Amino acid sequence: MTTLNQPNRSPVSVAGHRQIVNPRLAELPDYPFERLRGLLDPLGAPADLDPIALSLGEPQHPYPDFVGEILHANRHLYGKYPPVAGTPDFCRAVTDWLTRRYDLPQGMIEADRHIAPCAGTREALFRTAFMAVPPSKAGQRPAVLMPNPFYQCYAGAAIAAGAEPIFVPALAENGFLPDFAGLDENILARTALVYFCTPGNPQGAVADLAYLENLAALSRRYDFTLVVDECYAEIYNDAPPPGTLQVCVDSGDMSGILVFHSLSKRSNVAGLRSGFVAGDADLLTLFRRLSEYGGNPSPLPVYAAAAALWRDEEHVVANRALYQEKFDLAERVLSNRFGFYRPEGGFFLWLDVGDGEAATVELWRRAAVRVLPGAYLAAEGGGGENPGKAYIRVAMVHDRTVMEDALARIAETL
Ligand SMILES: Cc1ncc(COP(=O)(O)O)c(C=O)c1O
Repeated sequence: MTTLNQPNRSPVSVAGHRQIVNPRLAELPDYPFERLRGLLDPLGAPADLDPIALSLGEPQHPYPDFVGEILHANRHLYGKYPPVAGTPDFCRAVTDWLTRRYDLPQGMIEADRHIAPCAGTREALFRTAFMAVPPSKAGQRPAVLMPNPFYQCYAGAAIAAGAEPIFVPALAENGFLPDFAGLDENILARTALVYFCTPGNPQGAVADLAYLENLAALSRRYDFTLVVDECYAEIYNDAPPPGTLQVCVDSGDMSGILVFHSLSKRSNVAGLRSGFVAGDADLLTLFRRLSEYGGNPSPLPVYAAAAALWRDEEHVVANRALYQEKFDLAERVLSNRFGFYRPEGGFFLWLDVGDGEAATVELWRRAAVRVLPGAYLAAEGGGGENPGKAYIRVAMVHDRTVMEDALARIAETL
């Protein structure tokens, strides 16, 4: 059994009463960035150093100029309610991108059936649990599985949907890829949903096609929804990471499978709030229906800019090259120390520093560098061990000059 750390938790106060409207939400732990503020804000950082934030995965690389131009050219459309299903142009751009990127057969992805836009994938990932978790499964409380460490949204979504979140270790020993199939039969039978992320946040591990095939087969065997978060798919080291839709090519069967892609990391537009979900047509019909009731579709000018971004590869290639340069740099500055390895994908360093929280404090107090303790991204396992405890997560999101400074400070301080 695993538990989420909940230090300093107090029930949320509603209208002055110490109560909460939906008691499930009392189980939500503090968000990692809230915890980080609690840890570091009372401490001073050296006044003579510019603070560098490497805690948040918010890319600081430039985005293409055409984004602003398209938003401006379409500004007359801000007065219109946007369609929750996206525009035909947006859905076509995404369909073409998926087909190109993953070498899918023409016609496998149909723009009006297999795609739904989302205003950033976080909200859509969260909503998917609400959609995919029934009141009970196999006569028991449903389970939602996720890797441990994990993107926090998955756990929050599981809890809010009334499921038991189950954290499956993603450790160096297993290449940071969780062994979902190795879980107890009883857990698998009541699993309603699995969240998986490749390339993974925080460790950057990439699942190969065989892993994805096994996971898809498991989802069919135990009849759970498989959500694969592929938002880091375009930031990689050597080979493009495989995508989960590729395992559906032979059968043409995408049932139970949803993949999520975002422009936040691929195109450096976290503030544009644009991504999409693709896969099972029936689940997407339900997803769109939910969007009609309570979704937040992107404004029409955003759909237009997003479509242009999915059609453009030039900025993506340039963006990847910037990350590669910075990982070269990190390799030179940190290699052979702190368990440094070059991640296969994504833009995080996952450094083994012995005690991640203590290192985070030191880095802030002595070097004005803000990183995230790995423990804040993970839950305690059965033995009370938190698999992120020894680590810090370093988001390599700034330009080369800032990263050079930051990495030198990290190496010196630790
Ligand atoms: C693993 C993972 N999934 C999803 C997201 C959400 O991205 P967005 O909502 O900007 O699309 C993030 C953002 O940090 C992430 O790290």
